[in-house]
Amino acid sequence: MKIIKYPTDFMKTRKEIKGKVGFVPTMGALHQGHLSLIKQAREENDVVVVSIFVNPTQFLPGEDFEKYPRKYEADRAVCERVGVDYLFMPDVKDIYFDDEARVTAPKIKGYILEGLNRPGHFDGVLTVVNKLLNIVKPDIAYFGKKDAQQLYLVKKMVRDFFLDTEIKECDIVREPDGLAMSSRNVYLSEEERKKALLLSKSLKRAGKLIMAGEKKCDVLKKAMEEILKPIEVEYIEIVSRDFEKIDEIQKENSIILVAAKVGNTRLIDNLWV
Ligand code: PAJ
Repeated sequence: MKIIKYPTDFMKTRKEIKGKVGFVPTMGALHQGHLSLIKQAREENDVVVVSIFVNPTQFLPGEDFEKYPRKYEADRAVCERVGVDYLFMPDVKDIYFDDEARVTAPKIKGYILEGLNRPGHFDGVLTVVNKLLNIVKPDIAYFGKKDAQQLYLVKKMVRDFFLDTEIKECDIVREPDGLAMSSRNVYLSEEERKKALLLSKSLKRAGKLIMAGEKKCDVLKKAMEEILKPIEVEYIEIVSRDFEKIDEIQKENSIILVAAKVGNTRLIDNLWV
C-alpha cells in the first residue's frame, strides 16, 4: 500500500494507474461501516483508493472538528490489511487555498433536514468531495446510505457538474444490537450508548408498521416520536429517494430519517423502504 500526502503527487501517480479505480472517501477513525465500502470497492475494481481527511469546512463553528477522532496509525494498518492500494491523507493546507472557488449545495435540498440543522455543512461536504473526485478521478466512488442526504447531494453534484464517476450506494452497517456504526459513537458513555439505541429501535418500529400495512407518514412519525421521547429529537422525516416530503409511504422509494442528540452527541440514522 502506498501512502500519498500531496494532491499533486497523487495526480502524478494517477496518470500511471491502469485499470478500474474504486474510491472510498472518509474522515478516518475507520469502523466496519467504512470497511464494507472498502470491501465492495476491492471486489469491483482493479485499484482501490481510500482517503482520510477530516474536512474542516463541513464542521460548523462549535461542532466537533477539533475533537473528531483521529486514529491515523490504526487506520493505516486496517487499510493495509483489507488490500487498499493507495491511502491518500492530505493536510488541510494542501486541499484549501485563500479566496478559493467553492461548491455551494443546492439551495433547497441542501438546506433541509441535515442542511437546516447544520447550515453550510453540505457546501463543505460537496466542496471537498468535488476536490477529492478531481484528484483521484475514480471510475466508481462508494458512499454509505447512513448519510442519506449526503449521498443524494453527491449524486446530484456529480450529475450537475458532469463529473465522470459512478456513485454507488452502500447499505448501513450496524452493531449487533442495531446501533448504526459511526465514528462519533466513541463519544457515547455507557448510559448514552443505551439511549442511542432508540434511533434504530424507532426505525425498526416504523418498518414493522409498514410491513403490517401502515402507509401514513403521520402515523409512522407518531410511533417513532413515542419511542424517541427520552432523547432530544432534532427531526423525524419521511421523504422520497429524491428528498421530497411525502405523506404516504411509496414502496422502494421512501427514506425514513431521524436525527437526535444523546447528551452532547448528535446522531443520525435512517431506513430505506
Ligand atoms: P465519514 O463519516 O468518515 O464516512 C465515510 C463514508 O462511510 C460515507 O460515505 C458514509 O456514509 C459511510 N458510512 C459511515 N458509517 C456507515 C455505516 N454505518 N454503514 C455504511 N456506511 C457508512 O461521510 C463522510 O465521512 C464525509 O462527509 C466525506 C464524504 C468523507 C466528506 O468529507
